[in-house]
Amino acid sequence: MTKIVLITGSTDGLGKAVAERLARQDWKILLHGRSEDKGTAVLAEMRELTGNDDIYYFNADLSSLADTKRLADEILATQKRLDVLINNAGIGPRAPDSIRSLSKDGNELFLSVNYLAGYLLARQLLPLLSKSAPSRVINVASIAQVPLNFDDIMLDNDYSDYRAYSQSKLAQIIHTNTMAEQYTDLGVTFNSLHPATLMSTNMVTNSTSLPDSMSTVDDGADALERLVVSDAIAQKSGCYFNEQNEEKANAQAYDADAQKQLMAASEMLIKNAI
Ligand SMILES: NC(=O)c1ccc[n+]([C@@H]2O[C@H](COP(=O)([O-])OP(=O)(O)OC[C@H]3O[C@@H](n4cnc5c(N)ncnc54)[C@H](OP(=O)(O)O)[C@@H]3O)[C@@H](O)[C@H]2O)c1
Repeated sequence: MTKIVLITGSTDGLGKAVAERLARQDWKILLHGRSEDKGTAVLAEMRELTGNDDIYYFNADLSSLADTKRLADEILATQKRLDVLINNAGIGPRAPDSIRSLSKDGNELFLSVNYLAGYLLARQLLPLLSKSAPSRVINVASIAQVPLNFDDIMLDNDYSDYRAYSQSKLAQIIHTNTMAEQYTDLGVTFNSLHPATLMSTNMVTNSTSLPDSMSTVDDGADALERLVVSDAIAQKSGCYFNEQNEEKANAQAYDADAQKQLMAASEMLIKNAI
């Protein structure tokens, strides 16, 4: 049976590279991005390059919870199965003096795009994923991890892009572990990944606060593709991978109290969108 994967943020960088690899292996690919024009062009390019016509494009701005919910609804309405969800879309640190930005919903932007959108998407797609079991959710996180202060998750104080990025990435890992504990019995595995350090993607090359790139998109794609296709990973859930190696993430990722607090905060933040 043809396997189906949804990859958020697959109009560029890591997501696009892995989409192309899976398309060449005859997967059905659900591409996603935030620009209809760019998405349509990537769709045509990928069909042409890979010879796979079973590729489709979905547009949604993940800085809007309403748009994210609409994306989930479109997937549920058009797909009978979903074997793999890759929450990959993300934004990275901009200039060193960047000021705090807000999402369409008025939430801190990094937390919204990098974490909350993926939280909402996984939550809404869980019935489809469990119906398709064995299935996998892969959260593309980062080695950059800063513990969340639950009294100030919107970072009203002591803001920096780096802190905002790093707390959003640890939030993804905390969420991965919470979901793994609750849903692995349904046949849906949840794992998180640091794909590679400073890959030469827009996120890194357009930033004036990050060092020069030191790895290729292919390095990250090797690590992500493995989590998608490898039989050796099929039984793994609640794991954090640093490139190809299973490692421990920041201690907060395993803290039951932090897991509960993040779940409660997330449900509260999405409640008007569902
Ligand atoms: N690059 C690294 O060294 C590195 C290291 C560790 C982890 N990561 C993680 O890897 C993932 C992929 O990053 P990348 O390096 O491939 O970055 P990238 O090339 O900038 O790609 C990011 C993707 O996310 C999409 N996106 C951004 N904001 C969005 C929004 N509001 N709504 C919908 N889509 C949105 C982008 O769309 P556009 O095409 O329209 O820009 C693009 O498709 C991220 O989660 C990142 O945190 C990257």
